[in-house]
Amino acid sequence: MRQLPHPGPRPARLVRHGGGPAGRGPALDFSASINPLGPPAAVLRAVRLALPAVARYPDPASAALIARLAARHGVAAEQVVVGNGSSELIQALPRAVRARRAAVVEPTYTEYLRASLLAGAEVEHWLAEGDDFTPEPFDPAGADLVWLGNPNNPTGSMWDRARLIDWVRSFPRTVFAVDEAFLPFDPGEASLSLVSEVQHLPNLLVLRSLTKLYALPGLRLGYAVAQPELAELLREQLPPWSVNALAQAAGLAALDDDDFLRRTYRWAEEERTFVCGRLAELPYLRPLESRTVFVLLRLHGCTAAGLTAALAQRGLLVRDASNFVGLDGRHVRVSFRSPEDNRRLVAELAACAAEVCG
Ligand SMILES: Cc1ncc(COP(=O)(O)O)c(C=O)c1O
Repeated sequence: MRQLPHPGPRPARLVRHGGGPAGRGPALDFSASINPLGPPAAVLRAVRLALPAVARYPDPASAALIARLAARHGVAAEQVVVGNGSSELIQALPRAVRARRAAVVEPTYTEYLRASLLAGAEVEHWLAEGDDFTPEPFDPAGADLVWLGNPNNPTGSMWDRARLIDWVRSFPRTVFAVDEAFLPFDPGEASLSLVSEVQHLPNLLVLRSLTKLYALPGLRLGYAVAQPELAELLREQLPPWSVNALAQAAGLAALDDDDFLRRTYRWAEEERTFVCGRLAELPYLRPLESRTVFVLLRLHGCTAAGLTAALAQRGLLVRDASNFVGLDGRHVRVSFRSPEDNRRLVAELAACAAEVCG
């Protein structure tokens, strides 16, 4: 790990994410990682049934949803905090722990940096090294908050679980926020997740999102799991009714759908193997080792701006990853979609790379 100089951006300038608003042109969107199998039919049914509830305020405690999440993870209800997407919880966490100095394991999701800056914290950036950005523990040296993604966006890398737990245990005065937004796509989720460790680690908070797995980014739903004291600090920062009635109903239905999960595991495994395998055979780019539902590509002979523009001309949207701290203008992230779309992605990428990078 190597500490980077502070890039000095203003928080607002960091807001650039994958995914575009619907209905603008024919773009096939490979820039945001949303499960193409979703939303599950049972979830849409539950949302339709819940529609009359929009005329009342929702349960401010989201009690039924929280009870269901707590049962799923084998923790007490007071250890679960739900939010309007995990983004809301990411924004609230630095305020909740009154972070004065935060450390971010880079390159990663830029909201950790933005949330820390907005809460008035100083931010240190620690860059994972090696060809695939393999993350390693480091001495957070006085940071009160450490952020990391597991699997990490945009690199797709995973931490060695035992090393990560040892690291969290070694710095009990630092809160570790472990973002598992993309872990539920992995069939090994139960044994890879750190949620079961919160019982032993009062300084650990695990963030989860339901919007990617169940394809509900327009509805917004996420949660965090921690020991009761830390969970309460986070809950105190949230506005009332932040999880609306439809999202509560959707979450309850989603968590019952085991068949959807099984189909998702199969899709993720097959499409990762296909896309990464085929892209590895192409000249001008190298797919980094990914454990999840997107892959970071390192380009040779052209820039991300050039390649994304060429793909856009052909109706394909991919994520120019050059604004992630620690990445340069040679990185592009692509998310996996349906088998048919992914075949088109591989063919168009091959053609565009030959045209732009060759
Ligand atoms: C790593 C990571 N965490 C959290 C989020 C936020 O997800 P949501 O607010 O939809 O739960 C995103 C969204 O792209 C993400 O990439």
